[in-house]
Order: sequence, then C-alpha cells, then structure tokens
Amino acid sequence: MKTQILRILRNSPDYVSGQELCEELGVSRTAVWKSMNKLKEEGYEIEAVQNRGYHLISCPDVVTGSEVGSRLSTSWAGRKILHYKETDSTNNQAKREAEAAEHGTLIIADIQSAGKGRRGRSWSSPAGTGIFMSLILKPVLRPAYASMLTLVAALSTARAIEETAGLEAKIKWPNDLVVNKKKVTGILTELSAEMEQIHYIVIGIGINVNTENMPDDIASTATSLRIESGRQLSRAALIACFLNYFEKDYESFLSSCDLSSLMEEYNKRLINRGSMVRVLDPEEEYEGKALGINEKGGLMVQRGDQLEIITSGEVSVRGVYGYV
Ligand code: BTN
Repeated sequence: MKTQILRILRNSPDYVSGQELCEELGVSRTAVWKSMNKLKEEGYEIEAVQNRGYHLISCPDVVTGSEVGSRLSTSWAGRKILHYKETDSTNNQAKREAEAAEHGTLIIADIQSAGKGRRGRSWSSPAGTGIFMSLILKPVLRPAYASMLTLVAALSTARAIEETAGLEAKIKWPNDLVVNKKKVTGILTELSAEMEQIHYIVIGIGINVNTENMPDDIASTATSLRIESGRQLSRAALIACFLNYFEKDYESFLSSCDLSSLMEEYNKRLINRGSMVRVLDPEEEYEGKALGINEKGGLMVQRGDQLEIITSGEVSVRGVYGYV
C-alpha cells in the first residue's frame, strides 16, 4: 500500500484528498492514515492540509521496495523487490532466493558485508551511498546465451545513468561503466544451469552513486556519479530508471536472441571503439584496434590484417595507456 500511495502522490502535482486515496486503493481512511504515518517515520515529508488532502514534499534517499516500486513503469522487472538492510552479497542473497523467486525479482541491500567483484575481487559497499542490487532472471535460453545478458544490463545501466545523472556513461567491454575515464559501475553475472537449460541468472550491479570520496586504493581508477556531476542523486530513481530500460532492452534481446537490435546503442557508448587496445589473453597478449561488438556480444579487434573476436570472460582488454 505504501508503494501505491507514493505512486499516487508522486504523480499528482496537486494535493490528493484522503477520499480519493481511499477510493483508488479500496481501503479505509484509517488504513490510509496509518500508511501515511509509516511513511513519515521512514523520512518522507508529507504535508496534510484540511479540506485539501496530502502532498509529497520530499523523499529520503532510501532504496526500499516502495521507494523504487512507486517509480516503476515495468510489467515484470522489479515488480517484486526484496530489500535488506544488510546482507553478505546481493548476488549470494539472490542465489539463496532464486529457486522460489519470480522472473524479474530484484534484491537490494543498503550494505553488503562481503560484496563480490569479478575475478575473486571484493566490491567496496559502504552504507547509504551506493547501489548494490541483483536481478534474478529465468529466461528459456541455452546457457551459452547468458553472457549477452550482461551486456544488455550494461547498456540499460548506461542509459539510466545518462538520464538520471545527465552524465555521459561509456562502456568498457564487456560490462564496466566508465564516466570521465573512471569506473562507476561493475557487473557480476552468475549462472545456474544444466547443459541445455538455464535455471536462473543473477545479474549483480554495483553503482557508486553518492560517494563523496573514493577509498584511496581505487581513487585513481574509480569515481562516483556525485563526484562527476557535483550533485546528490536519488538512488531509487536510478534503480527504477534502470529497470524501466532493462525490461525493454531485454525484450529486444529476446526477440532475436542476440544483440542485433541493441548493438548500435552499445557500440555508440563503447569507450575504446576505434582505438588501440591491449588484449590480455592468458595464451598470448597482443595489441589491436577495437572495432565494436558483434551481434553475439564478442569484441571485434583488428590485429594487423586479421580480425579477432574476443568472447571469453578470461580475456581482459585495456587501453594501451592504462585502465581505459
Ligand atoms: C566488478 O566490476 O568486479 C563487478 C562488481 C559487481 C558488484 C555488485 S554489487 C551488487 C552485487 N553483489 C555483489 O556481491 N556483487 C555485485
């Protein structure tokens, strides 16, 4: 009910009367009044004026199910949100919930005590400033297609950052997001599958949003949206915007089971496109010119007169002069 009340208040420029709320929600005045009090306790500033009704003045920067859910226009993505004050890792939590969860369920945490990055690294997860979320998907797809979904999520996150923060978000293949040459988002996708069938995919996304100072050890390569835009952002608005884009992008992906309809938008944001990159293949390292991704999500690199397609997660790509 809190989600619905917030949605109604948010979408109405004027006061909303208690009567209108009761009718729209099919509940009693007391029930509306109780929910209003709960929202106020959570930090919402709601003005109540006799004979006019309620008006939403301000919202706290929280990432609860109602704050995110009241901003959604999706039919399945994030329609079920499980919000935790603290968990070890939203990816681990998602895996624990996955079997019983519906497709599109989102796990969000305020704090992760053991946030995981790729290649066994950890992900710094301080309270109150970042986004730590994991989306559970249950597509009817062969496991080999799963890695493309990570690229879909990277594109949707880039679009959401652009829309909510007004910053140009670039993609470092396959799925780091970079603003002004520094990383703002990492994505860790985990899969549970049999040979021919996916049980579920967990797409874990970490975004540095309102961090004022990055920890010393990562400050030269990582940044936050706040540092780059100079303003505090609503994390819930960013999450909802991501889900709104992701649902559409995912459906475009599913219509062809490849990235043909999203490639152009992805490549437009690809940070090294047209530049020399260093390919760190465990078998051999080489340099070449990054041309863009193909419809399967592989990175095409021109190496002399040979075209290499990089698909393996074991291979990483760097700019010739450093991280990008
Ligand atoms: C990387 O760039 O190394 C990937 C980082 C992924 C971090 C996110 S935060 C939410 C989710 N839960 C985790 O433990 N990791 C991912």
